[in-house]
Amino acid sequence: MCGIVGYIGQKKACPILIEGLRQLEYRGYDSAGISVINENGIFTAKSAGRVQELENKIGEKEVFGEVGIAHTRWATHGKPSDKNSHPHGDCKNNISVVHNGIIENYRELKDFLIKKKHKFSSETDSEVVAHLLEEFSKKMDFKLAVFEALKLIKGTYGLAIINSREPEKIIVARNGSPLVMGIGDGEYIIASDTSAIVRHTDKVIYFDDGEVAEITRDGFNVTNIRNKNIKKSITTLDWTVEKSQKGGFDHFMLKEIFEQPETIFNSIRGRYISTEGNAKLGGMEGVIDRIRKVEKIVIVGCGTARLAGMVGEYMLEEYAGIPTEVDYAHEFRYRKSVIDEKTALIAISQSGETADTLAAVREAKEKGALTLGIVNVVGSTIARETDAGVYTHSGPEIAVASTKAFTSQLAVMTLITVLFGRQRQMSLVTGQRIIRELDQIPAKIKKILSDNKEILKVAKKYHQYENFAYLGRKYNHPIAFEGAIKLKELTYIHAEGFASGEMKHGPIAMIDGNFPCVFVAPRDSVYEKNFSGIQEIKARGGKVIAIATVGDKEMAKVADDVIYIPKTLEMLTPILAAIPLQLFAYHMAVLNKKDVDKPRNLAKSVTVE
Ligand code: F6R
Repeated sequence: MCGIVGYIGQKKACPILIEGLRQLEYRGYDSAGISVINENGIFTAKSAGRVQELENKIGEKEVFGEVGIAHTRWATHGKPSDKNSHPHGDCKNNISVVHNGIIENYRELKDFLIKKKHKFSSETDSEVVAHLLEEFSKKMDFKLAVFEALKLIKGTYGLAIINSREPEKIIVARNGSPLVMGIGDGEYIIASDTSAIVRHTDKVIYFDDGEVAEITRDGFNVTNIRNKNIKKSITTLDWTVEKSQKGGFDHFMLKEIFEQPETIFNSIRGRYISTEGNAKLGGMEGVIDRIRKVEKIVIVGCGTARLAGMVGEYMLEEYAGIPTEVDYAHEFRYRKSVIDEKTALIAISQSGETADTLAAVREAKEKGALTLGIVNVVGSTIARETDAGVYTHSGPEIAVASTKAFTSQLAVMTLITVLFGRQRQMSLVTGQRIIRELDQIPAKIKKILSDNKEILKVAKKYHQYENFAYLGRKYNHPIAFEGAIKLKELTYIHAEGFASGEMKHGPIAMIDGNFPCVFVAPRDSVYEKNFSGIQEIKARGGKVIAIATVGDKEMAKVADDVIYIPKTLEMLTPILAAIPLQLFAYHMAVLNKKDVDKPRNLAKSVTVE
């Protein structure tokens, strides 16, 4: 989820690139860097930390040159540090490259290049691109060298490349990572998205996968990697500077909700072997023997992250057969928890900095447990302090309310369940089935997102109610709580989550026509029970908004409103059911004129106890 920017024109590139990085900083903010071509070759500055750190590093220095590239990083391979920051160069510093994406076969390419005596200076996958170009351009024209390199690369990329031996040019390429070019008056600005472009021009070209563009001050030429020309059309933007930072969405939260097909894909990509019905989690390889000996699992987290853990409890007990408990991280550390070296503690945290969750990790380590992290922010404290772990790769989550990080936590939890399960009693066929279904989740999320207008209609009908109950059972019991958290934190409306079976033991007394119930009731093993629960609410004059499986006509007869989700494996229904609840809470907040991205009293990363 890094941000890349490039400039070629008549003006000094450095300030334009730095400003572009600022606009893209939401895409990643663990390090930044810049390369500009001038008469002395390539000037490069990079720094761990925010764009401000990079600016401080450059200081008062005047950076000459009208052609350059820059990058703000969200670390995937290699911790955030000066040397892992982009741009990356070749051995002689003639070539400089910025990359957004993941080069899956970089180990293989790096081995090949090391044999050819290339010297690497970072731990990143991206650096191989600069060295591949150096290698190929020994024998051929630079543009052809780019084609040859791209033919070898497996994975995703948005690339911008400069070469001091062809100083009047930037080459860009796209495969799976966004890339757009602004067309100004004698100047071009390349960026991961238009937020870095809108202040310069409203004329843009969106590159498609498989395209390479050679850009000079006088024009540009787009081809595929076989050098066949491609005609591109120019789009006129109607976005404001403010809005484009959010990729055209009104709020970061909405943007992040809509990113979920991509973020789930990123969290599972390359992490399973379909034929073996097994997960392949690089971050767990070092502790695989200890995992085999685990007899008990304790999952800790706070807020939404803990709810992902609750879904994990159902998954792990059903499919891996390991006794599992879930605790609030802040309770766990004060409880006399019975754990030992045969216990695995799984800490779930988007930020990786939540003080309570970190304290629980330290407490478990002290007692000899194996500590595992499911964390989004690369290089964060929890990621560093756990014995092993899996990054969720959801990219920067800016909105305070967690959305895409949560569904990625569930996807990763599914893979962990397969890993633990396949070491125990889970059959090949079951492992294969889970993976097959998980693989289809991004497409199913897209379908739910396409019903956004329907969800808005439901929100319009209910946005003035003051109390809500959220109900669910088994796998969707935690999702009822998650729906309630989202509504509470975004709208400040009173919302409570319940395990639906609990209603008749007390809470149903509250129900009347002014207390709508959001019932998560997909067609799963507890459908009949939920259906009875809905009828009990209706019998007491309550209103029901149901989250149901597509095609469930019976539900439409009994519930007041139904939001449909596609059919999937029961254990995966929470990922799908969470999405309409996020959208519902979002619309409720907008309709009630609340500050969606920054709800009152909250912070994105809770680093105090
Ligand atoms: C709710 C939300 C919070 C976080 C919680 C844990 O939408 O965002 O409940 O889930 O504060 O934060 P992390 O995951 O960073 O540990």
